[in-house]
Amino acid sequence: MARGLLPSYLLLLAQENLEFRLPEIKSLLSLCGGQFSSQQEIRINSPFWILSFPSEEMARGLMKRTVCAKSIFELWSQGKSAVELYTSLKNYPVEKMALEFLPFEGKVNLKNPEHIFWILEDYGMDPNNVPENPLDLYFGRWIADGQRELIESYSVKRRHFIGNTSMDACLSFIMANHGRVKPNDVVFDPFVGTGGLLISSAHFGAYVCGTDIDFNTVHGLGKASRKNQKWRGPDENIRANLRQYGLEKYYLDALVSDASKPIWRKEMLFDAIITDPPYGIREATRRTGSQKEILKATERGTENHISISSNYHLSDIFFDLLNSAAEYLVMGGRLVYWLPVYKPEYTEEIIPRHPCLKLISNCEQMLSSHTSRRLITMEKVKEFEDEDQYSHLLDYQSLLYKGHNSFREKYFSGVTKRIAKEEKDNQK
Ligand SMILES: C[S@@+](CC[C@H](N)C(=O)[O-])C[C@H]1O[C@@H](n2cnc3c(N)ncnc32)[C@H](O)[C@@H]1O
Repeated sequence: MARGLLPSYLLLLAQENLEFRLPEIKSLLSLCGGQFSSQQEIRINSPFWILSFPSEEMARGLMKRTVCAKSIFELWSQGKSAVELYTSLKNYPVEKMALEFLPFEGKVNLKNPEHIFWILEDYGMDPNNVPENPLDLYFGRWIADGQRELIESYSVKRRHFIGNTSMDACLSFIMANHGRVKPNDVVFDPFVGTGGLLISSAHFGAYVCGTDIDFNTVHGLGKASRKNQKWRGPDENIRANLRQYGLEKYYLDALVSDASKPIWRKEMLFDAIITDPPYGIREATRRTGSQKEILKATERGTENHISISSNYHLSDIFFDLLNSAAEYLVMGGRLVYWLPVYKPEYTEEIIPRHPCLKLISNCEQMLSSHTSRRLITMEKVKEFEDEDQYSHLLDYQSLLYKGHNSFREKYFSGVTKRIAKEEKDNQK
């Protein structure tokens, strides 16, 4: 086996959310002060990746955060058969072993072992075509497990306060990892809803806050989303959610506010903005009326405060979001958000851009045969100057995405067509 200067580690990944794994591992390695490097080409959909890092400490740092990887091993040998694995192991330099393990002598303590060694076998990725013998074998020293248990312990099924768009726990942690959230950061969610995305950031030690246009959601009032329950109870609010996980000290606040009209002072800077904007499938896309609309309504005597809502087009939501991220993120801070797309019309060109933000990753999650949402991660790389300076660029960008404004209609047209077809097929 070709060996470079850096030690090799075998990362064992979970076989789900495949597209999200590489950006997660890259983001976390950079958070631990390293960078992604492999001595061989990564088979992106495989559960086995061989990576190189300068230290075991970095491997441990990575595993303290990842929800995409299950375990990491110091890789001692690799082969296509047991014989090759053994030969490769014999060639493994003794000085690279943390201790002189081999030959294994002395008592084996299975209950409380000092070191655990694994043989892992790779049978390929086609469940319908599993070979008789493994394609690859690996031998290594176990170092650490990842954070997969968070998916269960933070499951929305047992969370006090949920809505019909509460983010799944695994994806929330992936988002915080793509956002490189770290202890003492300030993380903001402009479309906070039930605060699902605040929880994962707070778990990693960040102080969290959010805004939402919906008064009832922010104040934990109104109708409950759970079956067989009419009204929200006293423990159904964002603060209580954080308290449920022992994270209340990280809760700054949630405010009723319209994301299209940022409320922050210029010097207010966030380390990350992590959000799931509305796209009209389970919740309305709306914003408060413009000054003109408010004036008109006041003249008509129909409305006397600011709560007029008008439809908030998706293209405007995303361009407002990018603009406020460019303005309110610290340099190097990250924006992580979901962008809904109608697949037949998707090209990379429609991903909203901003001169101050660099696109880091773009991962797809299917919603239906013809729609998906993309997890977009961007990093602030340039100081925000005058808003007007960017308006012509943003107008052009907005044009590219405009076809997706009718995402709701396209989503439901496909769904209704499919149901109609299924009904027709059933009648045959
Ligand atoms: C997809 S949900 C967010 C769900 C959230 N991640 C959670 O875990 O509950 C989108 C939220 O955006 C809010 N919203 C819609 N228009 C808004 C606006 N103009 N400004 C701020 N929030 C808005 C909705 O009330 C809704 O709660």
